[in-house]
Amino acid sequence: MSKLNGLNRRAFLKGASMTALAGAVGTGSTVSAAAATTPGMINGKYDFDTPYSRIGTDCVKWDSQIALFGDKVKVGMGIADMDFRAAPCIGEAMAERMKHENWGYLSAEAYATFREVIAEWNLDRYNLTVDPNSIVIATGVHPGLIATLKTFSPPGSKVLLMTPTYNGFYSDLTHTQTLRNESEMIFENGRYTVDWDDLEARMTPDTQSMLLCNPQNPTGNVWSEEDLLRIGELCLKHQVTVLADEIHADFVRPGEKYTPFASLPDKEIVDNSVSFKAITKTFSMPASKNAYWFSTNPVMLERIKINHNAGINTLGVVANTAAYKHGKDWIDQLLPYLDANHSYVEDFIKENMPRVGYTKAQGTFLSWLHFDDIMEDLDVVGKSAASQKTDQPMTETQVFESWLVDNSGVQLNDGEGYGKGGERCMRMNIGCSRQVLGTALKSMAAAFRKV
Ligand SMILES: Cc1ncc(COP(=O)(O)O)c(C=O)c1O
Repeated sequence: MSKLNGLNRRAFLKGASMTALAGAVGTGSTVSAAAATTPGMINGKYDFDTPYSRIGTDCVKWDSQIALFGDKVKVGMGIADMDFRAAPCIGEAMAERMKHENWGYLSAEAYATFREVIAEWNLDRYNLTVDPNSIVIATGVHPGLIATLKTFSPPGSKVLLMTPTYNGFYSDLTHTQTLRNESEMIFENGRYTVDWDDLEARMTPDTQSMLLCNPQNPTGNVWSEEDLLRIGELCLKHQVTVLADEIHADFVRPGEKYTPFASLPDKEIVDNSVSFKAITKTFSMPASKNAYWFSTNPVMLERIKINHNAGINTLGVVANTAAYKHGKDWIDQLLPYLDANHSYVEDFIKENMPRVGYTKAQGTFLSWLHFDDIMEDLDVVGKSAASQKTDQPMTETQVFESWLVDNSGVQLNDGEGYGKGGERCMRMNIGCSRQVLGTALKSMAAAFRKV
């Protein structure tokens, strides 16, 4: 689908970076210059407010969208990584390590130290005791999930999901040749809740694993201890292993509480689970490829390890260790900024986009938007059907995604990718400066006024 050939892509991106960011923030040259010179802090506070251009860095969020849709893209609000300049402690630690110019294999001690740093973060921040020896380092949450699915869910069997859910889970099913078993959540008064009867009915003998997302991408739900216990009890009863993906754990709005699945007050339930976490999303560095998984069940742990072999990369470990050890203040300052972004989205939609359905997320840096009326008016059903006869078939929400880029310059993630219940929704990443967020929302509102 790319409209660019490999040779001229970089030159295009350079030009596009000026156009796109200029569109996104109004005064392109001033902001680009500011982004290049802005120190990480202003008056002792981390600076999340100055737009930080990532264009031309080969990033998915901006560059891939420009490559796909062309220079109509003004604002990339898709894939779940944030636009912020990373915490200074990360760059500093990496620069220090760069002084030694050899990056050979890391020792077993390096892995052990890293596991201890991970355990300390979980204890300090969430009062969660994780035995460092039970932690397995991975190059991402996905490789861990795939190894675990391979262990418990044979090809052709089903994996339980509560939908709409993280679109990347579906690629894990493809990798393991397993099938989706989707329990659509109940959507009422703007909130998603578990459909308990449906969930249990789906725990049939051909379903051995459940992929649970907490906090939930894309709805932003932060599951309560009560909900998690009930899910855990059902899974135990029906011999379904719980794969708790908690990569969004660090993003919870004030007044909400993240409950680690591994902290539930029932040993049998916890022993029936594997937890997957990473700090990479928290600190704007998911491509440093560092994640981990752990379980209190030694038998499960050993069985999964047979399917999992990951080597860690030196700079990834340096960056992640720096974040765990010295990044607390950065994320503590970022959370209120993101909370204000959530409120900004809520207020803006109420005032300017009355046809868009939105409820403020409890956690994550994601907004899950409902576009029922607008999609109907745009006849996404008819357009998707017509596209099936072309060489670019599109789902209904991809039709909408493309329309939105054409008419507002804003790229969002298409809802159908998130499974059942996502058919009239889109996901918007709000992990960016307020200025960029404002530009995206204003451009969308202007486009919807013409529908
Ligand atoms: C719920 C969830 N799990 C996993 C991932 C990806 O994790 P990783 O990059 O560590 O494989 C994402 C990224 O968006 C996510 O939202």
